[in-house]
Amino acid sequence: MSAGDHRPATMWGGRFAAPPDPQAYRYQASLAVDWRLWPYDIAGSIAHARMLAHAGIISAAEARQIVQGLADLRDDLQAGSAVPPADAEDVHSAIEAMLVARIGKPAEKLHTGRSRNDQVALDLRLYLRDEVRAVDHLLAKVQCALLDVAQAHTKTVMPGYTHLQLAQPVTLAHHLMAYYEMFRRDRARLAGILPRINVMPLGAGALAGSTLPLDRDYVARELGFPAVAANSMDAVADRDFVVEFIAAAALVMTHVSRLAEELVLWSSQEFGFVEIDDAYATGSSLMPHKKNPDLPELMRGRAARLTGDLVTVLTMLKGLPLTYNKDLQEDKPALFDAVDTVKDTVAILPPFLASLRFNVAKLAAGAAGTLDLALATDLAEHLVTQGIPFRTAHALVGQLVRYCLDRGRPLTKLTADDCRGVPGMDDGTAAAVAAWAASLQNGSVAEAAVARHRTVGGPAPELVAEAINRAKLACSGG
Ligand code: ARG
Repeated sequence: MSAGDHRPATMWGGRFAAPPDPQAYRYQASLAVDWRLWPYDIAGSIAHARMLAHAGIISAAEARQIVQGLADLRDDLQAGSAVPPADAEDVHSAIEAMLVARIGKPAEKLHTGRSRNDQVALDLRLYLRDEVRAVDHLLAKVQCALLDVAQAHTKTVMPGYTHLQLAQPVTLAHHLMAYYEMFRRDRARLAGILPRINVMPLGAGALAGSTLPLDRDYVARELGFPAVAANSMDAVADRDFVVEFIAAAALVMTHVSRLAEELVLWSSQEFGFVEIDDAYATGSSLMPHKKNPDLPELMRGRAARLTGDLVTVLTMLKGLPLTYNKDLQEDKPALFDAVDTVKDTVAILPPFLASLRFNVAKLAAGAAGTLDLALATDLAEHLVTQGIPFRTAHALVGQLVRYCLDRGRPLTKLTADDCRGVPGMDDGTAAAVAAWAASLQNGSVAEAAVARHRTVGGPAPELVAEAINRAKLACSGG
């Protein structure tokens, strides 16, 4: 069929003297993008047809034929034995055209009291309600995967950074549990937006409701909506729920991206903290020795798309007068991209995390830093326990750090004699420094130091192990 000659049948041709220009028609059509909404479009139409009969607007027999026709169509679409007409304008007209082709006359009553403006809002809300649950489920699995890895590493000490400069030792478990918390907030955010997605717009019509006795509560009950949109104009113009979802998904991807960035860094030869399994790595076409972390790099890269999707929808909305404008159709490419990207990304994380091989020795080796200087803060805090004001302790330890650097002596090997040369250090303080150093001498100094960081929310292994055990209870159910 030559596109140039083709004149599609539209839902709105009546007042037009001429058929649409094919190129213009294709430009405004959205079937290729919105076809994925078909299960929701059918579900919405079934509820609408039942309501029309319930309200006495169509007969019970007509409603039965429509509902049966839609149910059959759903089966055939699921089975792949039905396909939408390629020239349909959008998912709504495609489903209606297919129904008319199947059951004839009664199908022509389906669109009574309804506009595609409230219909598309309904479809999107039904769709997004499912996708919010799907993303939440995937995030729960990521959390459980993080807990598994963390549980194996509650005692694995590693360097903790600020400014990407070694700051204080932490554990790998504690570090990973930070991501667990981020995903916990992400899930709470998704739960928080659900009530605003879960509002039933149908009955708003094009913008001003209807003269027919539509029963909106009936439709809401049929489709499991706890609320009906309160204002018909807002109902067809509102896409806040799309913005909110994309924003929540963008934050999920931001968190994934930060984790991905750490894995890229940690898998470098220079860090050597982790080895990415061959199954999740890729090679170089030129350099035979390369093993590249493409997967986390792409996770980091794809986070950019969500930021773009968010900006797209916000920008699209900001200048729109009420109510429906065709610009709103542009919500879908952005929303679907956000949904697909976040789901694809989050779905790979659990097996990817499980496959990581952490180099415990390498992590531990750097934990206390050069000359154990990452324990300088602990020493200052020890002096505080001896009655020295923190500011004074900070200055004294700063001078000890200088001494260690000048002489190449570890902070944790200092003796009272070493302290003598430090101005302002009295004998009592020198003895306290030496006592602190001596108290760390059994085993790894970083391990000993981390175990003392027992603040609520801190990295001490028993605390983190407890947090993991508590959190794991939510995982056993699968
Ligand atoms: N495809 C349209 C969209 O996604 C459906 C609503 C069309 N309404 C209209 N009056 N053209 O926004």
